[in-house]
Amino acid sequence: MAEPRTPLPPPSTLPKPNLTSRFLGLLLLIFVPVVLAAILFQPPDFDPAPLPGDHYFGDSIAVPERHDHVLEASERIGEGLLPGPEDLAYDAEKGYLYTGCSDGWIRRVGLKDAELKVEDWAFIGGRPLGLAMAPGGSLVVADSYKGVLLVKPDQTVELMTNEAEGLNFRLTDGIDVASDGLIYFTDASYKYNLEMTMLDILEGRPHGRLMSFNPSTNQTVVLAHDLYFANGVAVSPDQHSIIFCETPLRRCKRYHIEGDKNGTTENFIENLPGYPDNIRYSGEGHYWIALSSGRTISWDILFKFPFIRKMAAILAKFFSPFYLSQDSGMLSVTLEGQPLTIYSDRHLILVTGGLKIGKNLYYGSLHESYISKIDLTQYRSNAM
Ligand SMILES: *[C@@H]1O[C@H](CO)[C@@H](O)[C@H](O)[C@H]1NC(C)=O
Ligand SMILES: *[C@@H]1O[C@H](CO)[C@@H](O)[C@H](O)[C@H]1NC(C)=O
Repeated sequence: MAEPRTPLPPPSTLPKPNLTSRFLGLLLLIFVPVVLAAILFQPPDFDPAPLPGDHYFGDSIAVPERHDHVLEASERIGEGLLPGPEDLAYDAEKGYLYTGCSDGWIRRVGLKDAELKVEDWAFIGGRPLGLAMAPGGSLVVADSYKGVLLVKPDQTVELMTNEAEGLNFRLTDGIDVASDGLIYFTDASYKYNLEMTMLDILEGRPHGRLMSFNPSTNQTVVLAHDLYFANGVAVSPDQHSIIFCETPLRRCKRYHIEGDKNGTTENFIENLPGYPDNIRYSGEGHYWIALSSGRTISWDILFKFPFIRKMAAILAKFFSPFYLSQDSGMLSVTLEGQPLTIYSDRHLILVTGGLKIGKNLYYGSLHESYISKIDLTQYRSNAM
């Protein structure tokens, strides 16, 4: 039933602020409290810095092939059973796809069984991020709170390392295992833990390290210091180098473990169209880089201006700036770091890891309770 309408006053009697004063009013309304809050509630010891001088804010690298509506092609696996699947590891022999969930469980999906059954596999208690298969059917896990863990096939959990050079890890993040058994991993930050990820990113200072752990000597060695939120790690298929990602700088680097360049770091891929998280080798001459968010104007502004990041750190207490994530997805690149194909979607957020198995691309998002799957053969033909 329609309500009887009270007539509006004639438009001429309403005060009519012009656009400028409205804008100024709005600005004052938002800006003044934020500035005050920034002065009064600055997190202790939080001191944003400009990004390194060579950081480039021009156009991102061009990706030759783009698919930017992947949600419609994605199928959900284990919906409701896989909270926040951060990284994926595949046991090709047994057909299990492993992932680390936000409730401290490592779960696995049997890809060879028709129902794609989800199993609670091992409880490690912290927050598993990076995962990789290790010799003998074990799994190594970068647990953000606990450090590097070994999970044996009987599901027993052992701590391998949680400090190097007298400095504890705060945010163990990416991990991979070389064919000689050496484990390569990152600690994204020695200063901020997982809950404070945004502060680390907004501070724009290098608190990350790339390290190796040798299980036969129990020795942890720091390979590269002063990294910006050191994230995903992948051993190159020739076992000559380690690729690792630095999220806020939108780049991945190569650390050599062989040959003339042994022990040195060089660029692998720079100026990505988004913020890289985990990186995985697919076994087909391609790496798959998860972009936790596409590049956006908001992020560009934040990274250009440390002062604005100071303000944003206050807001970060009240709402998660992760909501600034959009256009998340997966990017494939060659072994030499040439971009090939991007699979993204404007409405996809916080994709943190994925890999290609056979004809399917699997990916996980911190924001969802399932793993997504795209049949690339189907999708390609639909999209063309
Ligand atoms: C490495 O550490 C494990 C667990 O603490 C221990 O059982 C093993 O003996 C150590 N190995 C060496 C070579 O020190
Ligand atoms: C590379 O350098 C490290 C020390 O930085 C050394 O332990 C290792 O044996 C070297 N590897 C090769 C293959 O030369």
